[in-house]
Amino acid sequence: MATPIRQIACLQRYYITQVKFTKINHLNYMSEDLHIIQGTKEAQYQALYPQIEALITGETNLIANLANLAAALKQQFNWWWVGFYLVAPNNQQLILGPFQGPIACTRIQKGKGVCGSAWQQAKTLIVPDVDQFPGHIACSSLSKSEIVVPIFNNTHIVGVLDVDSEYSNYFDATDQKYLEQIVQLIVDHSLL
Ligand code: SME
Repeated sequence: MATPIRQIACLQRYYITQVKFTKINHLNYMSEDLHIIQGTKEAQYQALYPQIEALITGETNLIANLANLAAALKQQFNWWWVGFYLVAPNNQQLILGPFQGPIACTRIQKGKGVCGSAWQQAKTLIVPDVDQFPGHIACSSLSKSEIVVPIFNNTHIVGVLDVDSEYSNYFDATDQKYLEQIVQLIVDHSLL
């Protein structure tokens, strides 16, 4: 017999709000829930922040923490692309790091694209319409707007967080405020 539509909707809601994942570190195995919150952007960030803090506490490996952060942000916000570019040892280019979304460009020169510009200017860049940004690097033609947040280790930049949306004008000062706090949390907890 077919499952009533209301029951299916209910089950979908349950699984969307109760995404299970397992945290593994060198000491133990533990299971946690990532609680996906509906609501305002602010409410979503406020619910996610302490969960990210709990997730990375006890793990000092930068790549592991960036990988889980990309996954947690993707699960909560379902952005088109979210991930990291890390400064190369030669300090001239960014190299693709952990991300969630379609495959992406692997290297970006300093000062090029939104990522290389945010790195060079040492500040967060919000781009409401990527077609209006001179030199925007289109890893995906479906990306319409973007925010890039530099990751500071004291005064020098070790990489950037890059988020793309398939919708125009998607990011604002709220994203900037929380994403800057979140990347700082990663730096404070990781060995660089
Ligand atoms: N659009 C970025 C390139 C990276 S991708 O969006 C993943 C830029 O202009 O730097």
